[in-house]
Amino acid sequence: MVCTVVVDGFFGDTGKGKVVSFLAWADRPKIAARGGVGPNAGHTVVFGDHVYKLRMVPSAFVSPTTRLLIGPGVLVNPDVLLSEIELTGCADRLGVDPQCAIIEQKHIEADKTSSYLSGVIGTTGTGCGPAMEDRVARRAKLVKDEPRLQKFLTDVPLEVNEAVDEGEDVILEGTQGTFLSLWHGTYPFVTSKDVTASSICADVGVGPKKVDEVVVVLKSFVTRVGGGPLPGELSPEEVEKRGWMEIASVTGRRRRVAEFNFELAKRAVMLNSATQIALTKLDLVIPDCKGITSYDKLPRKAKKFVEEIEEALKTPVTLIGTGPSTHEMIDRREAS
Ligand code: IMP
Ligand code: MG
Repeated sequence: MVCTVVVDGFFGDTGKGKVVSFLAWADRPKIAARGGVGPNAGHTVVFGDHVYKLRMVPSAFVSPTTRLLIGPGVLVNPDVLLSEIELTGCADRLGVDPQCAIIEQKHIEADKTSSYLSGVIGTTGTGCGPAMEDRVARRAKLVKDEPRLQKFLTDVPLEVNEAVDEGEDVILEGTQGTFLSLWHGTYPFVTSKDVTASSICADVGVGPKKVDEVVVVLKSFVTRVGGGPLPGELSPEEVEKRGWMEIASVTGRRRRVAEFNFELAKRAVMLNSATQIALTKLDLVIPDCKGITSYDKLPRKAKKFVEEIEEALKTPVTLIGTGPSTHEMIDRREAS
């Protein structure tokens, strides 16, 4: 029984939603708590016949017995949260911490109309940066004062720590990506706070000694949306040719693309103290992998890529995504 943190090792959109939904479906954790910035994130979960694009509700909702929590470090947009609670039907098992700060319409307008934020940095326009400014200035409104969320209020750090102490499985879901971190990313082209594993833990109130596993999610190629450097960026024509074109789930923007970057991956392993790697979208780089769920059945070329990553990062690749659906995953955790 373990406490696992799942974070993104690149610039967001590596497939955390899919990885968390797989872990939740496979392990049925007692609790899944979301850390990170707020509804600037878009986590895609393909489960059954549905494609869910979640910005607030933890991706672990696919496990019907898992309690879903949002830690006090996360910014909450009540409209987004309430509509996702309805969409996922999780009202009876969702809890939000009273100390979460609220994103108001004025924050969204400030984010969208600022020529610096939206024009130069290329923010998501979801009001996260301006709301974080208000939180730091200690004038932000908190969830405890939002009448529509009263029935969901709970002490998230207490619930999470009690579950860990009782030896239950707990998943902490990060958002954004290591190189979008305010401290460790490509400043100023970053989000409004740190988003490495340590901060995800702090967002939900879990101390470093209580974490057993840190899963760093790496996509088989690198993407980023908005401004900022992307080493080895491919031309749109090349991206199209390789079939790696992606559209951002929150903003609808076209993602910029580069090949898998070992240097960034190595640094992400260091910054997050990764104990495991989840490698996603392998089927887009090596199409013969599509839908395979057993490592033995992977083509030789795919195994070589996985071995190369393990060798370079000195960390086991325990999960391998071979398609968009929650179940299209190779689980090698037993073997490692
Ligand atoms: P903000 O977080 O909306 O302030 O945006 C700051 C930068 O982070 C922009 O480049 C965004 O595109 C990027 N960003 C924020 N959240 C995500 C995410 O969940 N996935 C990918 N990029 C993100
Ligand atoms: Mg995303």
